[in-house]
Amino acid sequence: MMLSVRAATKLFGGLAALRDVSFDLAKGEIKAVIGPNGAGKTTMFHLITGILRPTSGRIEFAGRSVEGLSALQIARLGIARTFQQPQIFRSLTVLENVMLGADRSGRSGLLACGLGLPRTRLEERRQIAAAHEYLAFTGMADHAQRIASDLPLGEQRYVEITRALATGASLLLLDEPAAGLDETETEQLSALILRIRDRGTTVLLIEHHMKFVMGIADSVLVLNFGAWLADGTPAEVRSSPAVIDAYLGTAENA
Ligand SMILES: Nc1ncnc2c1ncn2[C@@H]1O[C@H](COP(=O)(O)OP(=O)(O)O)[C@@H](O)[C@H]1O
Ligand SMILES: [Mg+2]
Repeated sequence: MMLSVRAATKLFGGLAALRDVSFDLAKGEIKAVIGPNGAGKTTMFHLITGILRPTSGRIEFAGRSVEGLSALQIARLGIARTFQQPQIFRSLTVLENVMLGADRSGRSGLLACGLGLPRTRLEERRQIAAAHEYLAFTGMADHAQRIASDLPLGEQRYVEITRALATGASLLLLDEPAAGLDETETEQLSALILRIRDRGTTVLLIEHHMKFVMGIADSVLVLNFGAWLADGTPAEVRSSPAVIDAYLGTAENA
């Protein structure tokens, strides 16, 4: 398994943001995590990426426990993510943002302050070329020299996704990548996610609504108030009585 989560629990004081949630993600799979606001979806991402530590439970990436590893160490193992609110360097260009992703030595924080660490010309040219390739892949080539904050939300998301890909990660976590996008943008994003999978990257993505994931996900994990509700193919999950009861019953999400 690329990712195994076993009985993950995260308590915040008296509140269980996650309780005893388990799931597997196979290499090459696209898995969606869905559930209403507050279901614990983002908390699950924080546990996987080492931003938060589980209260109990076990997380394995490529057969290796990530327990005790820092977020940076986990990133270096090959897990990259995007955030619900795009975390990009707003005053840098799109190209510079993507180059920071490619810098796997962990100097990103320093680079963000100056972008001026000693690098050989050759190394820098290689990094620029690699960043351009990733931008071409995500359809952002024409925006390479634009200042990130000048882009609309949808394209800021693409900057973040491109940067995550540029880390060379084998597992990509996307937190509500379609939020705020219109229908056309959402379709384009679906196509991009499929292409990301086709190039060999495993994808775990959070979505608020069922519709978006039906077309692209191989499997869907449903969370509700921090608890595991269902896990299976989109069709299985959609016809699960527990899911219909708790979540899909409302017209908005059906
Ligand atoms: N750092 C935190 N401290 C206290 N409570 C938190 C924290 N982060 C999340 N929560 C709570 O945990 C629950 C799950 O949150 P979250 O994982 O963000 O849900 P989702 O992403 O599914 O909307 C919510 O009730 C939220 O208020
Ligand atoms: Mg969330």
